[in-house]
Amino acid sequence: MNILITGATSGIGKQLALDYLADGHHVVACGRTKAKLDALAKDARGSGRLSYCIFDVTDREQTLLALQEIAVNEGLQASGFDCVILSAGVCEYIDDAKNFEPALVDRVFAANFFGVVNSIAGVLPNLKPGSKLVVVDSMARMFQFTRAEAYGASKAAIHYFAGSLRTDLVKEGIQVITVSPGFVKTPMTDANDFEMPMRVTVEQASRAIQKGIAKGKPHIAFPRIFGGILAFLQRLPYRLQISLSKRMKQS
Ligand SMILES: NC(=O)c1ccc[n+]([C@@H]2O[C@H](COP(=O)([O-])OP(=O)(O)OC[C@H]3O[C@@H](n4cnc5c(N)ncnc54)[C@H](OP(=O)(O)O)[C@@H]3O)[C@@H](O)[C@H]2O)c1
Repeated sequence: MNILITGATSGIGKQLALDYLADGHHVVACGRTKAKLDALAKDARGSGRLSYCIFDVTDREQTLLALQEIAVNEGLQASGFDCVILSAGVCEYIDDAKNFEPALVDRVFAANFFGVVNSIAGVLPNLKPGSKLVVVDSMARMFQFTRAEAYGASKAAIHYFAGSLRTDLVKEGIQVITVSPGFVKTPMTDANDFEMPMRVTVEQASRAIQKGIAKGKPHIAFPRIFGGILAFLQRLPYRLQISLSKRMKQS
């Protein structure tokens, strides 16, 4: 398969790239810096082929151009990508809700919402009937966690965008898959200063995503028990939700 992955230089995206390469696929790894893509190449094992595509998802012009060029350079304009996984994202928390910085919200949305929108616009011309478009959101969208105003909202927004796109791309034969992970051990969550219940390894996350994509599931969520708990919490009275959410505070 020809698989394009954004955020392939770290965490979930990097593990997916390594696993697909180990299985012999052609992976177009997208990242912001060549040095980090070189590090990915060093870690790669197996018979797969690795190509680089360098761009910052928050730069629309750069993203559209890079994604157009890579399809031409790899001769994929006719056949298209079999699978595109959009994993690039950032997390920033709001520490002082009363005096929050709107620019923080801009930064988070620039990567997690508009960055994904830019990437989708860039790859759509090279998605054909049978192609899969995979958008990584987060279980954070399912519950109003403390300090997660920007992050949770950006993930809820992109989940909705992708869900709506799923309906509209059916006639094109393109399947849109949303992925909502719970906590996964990556550099992103290593920066967190609170307890992360049921955190899984990046290898487990990669396996769950690969399995879901192979089965053609429209939505992939893991760990399932954590998702079930969040769905239950959302049905509780708001007073209770607030007190539970507050427990997830900085240590
Ligand atoms: N880890 C979790 O618990 C968890 C849970 C739910 C959802 N998610 C989501 O899963 C995705 C991957 O997260 P992760 O934990 O693997 O995080 P990570 O280890 O921090 O990796 C994030 C990746 O996104 C890339 N990226 C960030 N901003 C970018 C930009 N402007 N342009 C291009 N690439 C950019 C990073 O590139 P650089 O290497 O250049 O920085 C890196 O490759 C994110 O969308 C995240 O929100 C993670």
